[in-house]
This record gives sequence, structure tokens and C-alpha cells, in this order.
Amino acid sequence: MVMVKITFMMRVLLMLSLLFILPDQAVTAWGPESLPSHHHYDILMSLIRSVGWNPRNVDVQHLDKEKSAFCNTVYRVNQNKDTTIAIAKIFSPLALARMTHRPVGSMDSYVASQGLAPRILAKTNESILMEFYEHNCDGTQNAEERDDSLCALSLAQLHSLLPLSPSQENDENMLWRSCRILLLHHVSESWACHGVAGGGSWNKEMLATEVRNQQARLSQKSLIEVPIAHGDCKPSNVIHQRERVVFIDLELCGRNYRAFDLAKLLRNDQDPALRNSSSRRARFLSAYAQHVDVSLHQLQTEVDEILSLTWLEAAIFFAAMESVDPPNSKNWNSLAASRLQNYEMCRNLTQ
Ligand SMILES: *[C@@H]1O[C@H](CO)[C@@H](O)[C@H](O)[C@H]1NC(C)=O
Ligand SMILES: *[C@@H]1O[C@H](CO)[C@@H](O)[C@H](O)[C@H]1NC(C)=O
Repeated sequence: MVMVKITFMMRVLLMLSLLFILPDQAVTAWGPESLPSHHHYDILMSLIRSVGWNPRNVDVQHLDKEKSAFCNTVYRVNQNKDTTIAIAKIFSPLALARMTHRPVGSMDSYVASQGLAPRILAKTNESILMEFYEHNCDGTQNAEERDDSLCALSLAQLHSLLPLSPSQENDENMLWRSCRILLLHHVSESWACHGVAGGGSWNKEMLATEVRNQQARLSQKSLIEVPIAHGDCKPSNVIHQRERVVFIDLELCGRNYRAFDLAKLLRNDQDPALRNSSSRRARFLSAYAQHVDVSLHQLQTEVDEILSLTWLEAAIFFAAMESVDPPNSKNWNSLAASRLQNYEMCRNLTQ
């Protein structure tokens, strides 16, 4: 009887000690098997540990699973199963290739330190862990107007930031840089896109020619460049809170035309040339102009000049995704086609 008790105690002790000795994967509710790769597991562990959280006390949830594995991967880090405390983002090789600022996450920290992005809690050479910010719109009347004016203020503040380092003043404009990298290294030579309006088709050479011509055209115009523009300022990258607006997805942040951000924010698929949202557009640009020394007329001219480029740049990105992610090539091709259709429509209106 005594022997039995001892072995039982020993077993309990052994199990307890194993809990401390075994790697966390044996005891966390989430593990490599619930993630796309072991590599991601290691990154998440390193992020969570570096903020001093116990991996056993948090749960990790893979967001946007349906998105291609070649895009950035985003995880929600929850405490007690329900409260989200942070978002972990692991950058894709394509995102890392287009990012100018190094080390990874330095721009995110800088913009966050100005109150314009979620606070960064930890970083690795290919990922960031940031505070979770929820959209917080109250849905009352005038909410859209108030949100727009907060957003215009934040965007004007972002565009007024000094460069992250003095040498950045001479950085290549992110719009041209991004198009160049994608065309040079990622869009396949045999890429072709049919089914654009009017039965036209596009190939890689045509994309490259279009970029060259547009760059030459815009260099003749007086479009203002700022040291820090967002670079991918679509509405889903703007988080509205009660008293302020913050920006996420800062991978393409850097020197760019300020109107590239404005145009990308204001355009949408239903209104690719911004023809029938003129009142909202004028209201937004007026609010922005209040914080920057510029006339509404000048801003409207800049937006008109650059609008088509927001569609061309998106088309080139989808053309690149087709060779990065062949299993979904049909999808990427039809996304490129719709952007090119919008591009042609805008270009024909402005030129
Ligand atoms: C990040 O660093 C790890 C080693 O610490 C290395 O294995 C990995 O390839 C690096 N990732 C990138 C994108 O450089
Ligand atoms: C806006 O304009 C586009 C054409 O540019 C048109 O197809 C669309 O129906 C219009 N939408 C509204 C709400 O008027």
C-alpha cells in the first residue's frame, strides 16, 4: 500500500516536472499543427515571449485563412479565449522585397510614436506584433462626415512627418520603385491578360511601357511628393476610433505623391474615376487642405493626375501574384483585368 502511494506521488511529480521541461508546444492550446508552418510557430513564440507573455496563457488564431499563403499572414493573439490583445503579422517574401525601410517594423514604430498607427509591441526580421485596435464607429448620423474629417487630419499629419532618416530624402518614389521591383522580378515574361474592356489585351511589355510613359508624364506636372505617404491607403487600412484615426499595413510607406494616398482612399470599384462622389471628395479634400498649406483646386488637380496610377499599380501587383501563386492564377488574372479596365477608363478621361 505504501509502495503504491509513493509510485503514485512520483508519477504526479514526474508529470509536473515534465510540464516545465517540455517545450511549450506540448501544453499550448495552439501549436505548429494549427498553423501554416513550423516557421510561423517559431516566429509567434518569439514575438509572444519577447513581450513577456506566457504562451500557455494566450491563444493564437489564424485570420484570413482563405487568403493565399503568399500574402502576409495575420494572427490574432487572444487572452482568455475572447479578448484580443494583439495582432501578429508575418510578412511575405513579396512584401519584404517591396519594403524600403529596415530594420523591418521601424517605420511602423515611427508612425506609431506619432500616434498614427497601432503601438508596436515586438518585432523580428520578418514580423511585427502590434496592439489590436478595433473599428469604433458609432453609426450615428453625420458619422461619415466626422470620420472623414478625422481621417483627413490624420492623413495630413502622416504627410507632414519628417523622413525616418535624413538619407530617405533621396529615396526613390515608392510608386515607381514598387512597379519596377514587381515588373523586374515577379511578373512573368509570358503574363497576359485578356478580357479587358473593348476586347483588348495586355502583356508585360505593355505594363512596363505604360509605367515609363506615366512616369515621364507626371514628371512634367507639379505633383507634391512627401517623405512619408502610406502607399496603400485603401479604406480597409484606415481604422476609425472615436477620437482618432490610425493607419495599418505600412509596408509601402515612404516617399510618394501625397495625391496617391488621397486618390486610393477616395476611389472605389463602383466609382473608379471618382465622377459621382464629387461632394464627398470635395469635402474630404477641403478637410485635408485645412491642415496643409494647399488650395482645394491644387489638390483636385493632383488627384485627377494620379488616379489612374492607383489602378495601374494594383494591376501590376496582381500580375506579379499570378507567378508567385500559380494555383490561384485565374483569380489573380481576373483581378488584374478589372484594375486594367478601371485604368483605361481613368486614363482616357485625364489624357
Ligand atoms: C530571419 O532570421 C532567421 C534567423 O534568426 C532566419 O532563419 C530567417 O531566414 C530570417 N528571415 C528573413 C526574411 O531574413
Ligand atoms: C457612378 O459612375 C459609374 C460610372 O463611372 C456608374 O457605372 C455607376 O453606376 C455610378 N454610381 C452611382 C451610384 O451613381
